[in-house]
Amino acid sequence: MAGTPLSAKPHLCEGRSSAWEPERVPAHVALIVDGNGRWAARRGLARNDGHAAAVPRLLDTIDGAVQAGIRHLSFYLFSTENWRREPEEVARTLEIIGGFVTDNQAALHAKGVRALWCGRRDRVPPTLGRTLADFEQFTRNNRTMDLIFCVDYGARDELLRAAAELARDAAEGRLSPDRIDAASLTSRLYQPGVPDVDLLIRTSGERRISNFLLWQCAYAELYFTDVLFPDFDRFALWEAVADYAGRERRFGRAGAA
Ligand code: IPE
Ligand code: IPE
Ligand code: MG
Repeated sequence: MAGTPLSAKPHLCEGRSSAWEPERVPAHVALIVDGNGRWAARRGLARNDGHAAAVPRLLDTIDGAVQAGIRHLSFYLFSTENWRREPEEVARTLEIIGGFVTDNQAALHAKGVRALWCGRRDRVPPTLGRTLADFEQFTRNNRTMDLIFCVDYGARDELLRAAAELARDAAEGRLSPDRIDAASLTSRLYQPGVPDVDLLIRTSGERRISNFLLWQCAYAELYFTDVLFPDFDRFALWEAVADYAGRERRFGRAGAA
């Protein structure tokens, strides 16, 4: 599906046009990219071939998100726990992320995508760090869609840093502990300008969160699909969006009669 032209409108939802009413489209979709290794193993390939095969699917998913009117799209690409993998796989995964940016940043910029990096900036290889930071800088004025790269990201790590910053500000007299609220914590996250997640998608059949956006997913709708990420595409994204559109979000209120 990587070559599907943008003009191919979501036929998937014909007869379900309510799925595409703007207020039914999730503003923030977060996707746990999973199943690359299993996709490769099923083909007798190396795990890294699965990571490489994910690249065109990331691009197709981005195009599908722009078409659907999604305003913020987060990809979980490398977690704070993924350093536990073999060094060769870690190195190649990070290299593929850098290559993805280098090869596609001009095209993504032309689509009005604003890149944001969510995660620790002190541990990835310096070349990748520069690539991601330059991509953010280059696209900073774009407004069509935020594309959030979660790289060396872990929610506990993010929340611990925010807590430490709150403690520091309190200890140094800049903040009264009585005034700590959701906004003061949110403002200390990696990307405070990005709203909470509306729809969390995980590919590959696993049904867990794996330390992803724990604060921001407090009220996210969860969607799990057995599709392995190297088989995921814009149509699979739209299926998830259509499913989301049919849900009733309550935020603690009583349900509709
Ligand atoms: C997702 O695919 C990519 C990363 C987590 C970096 P996996 O590499 O986790 O693939 P599986 O889960 O082993 O199939
Ligand atoms: C989650 O996938 C992390 C990313 C997608 C970057 P994993 O494959 O690492 O998750 P677990 O270990 O199976 O929970
Ligand atoms: Mg996995």
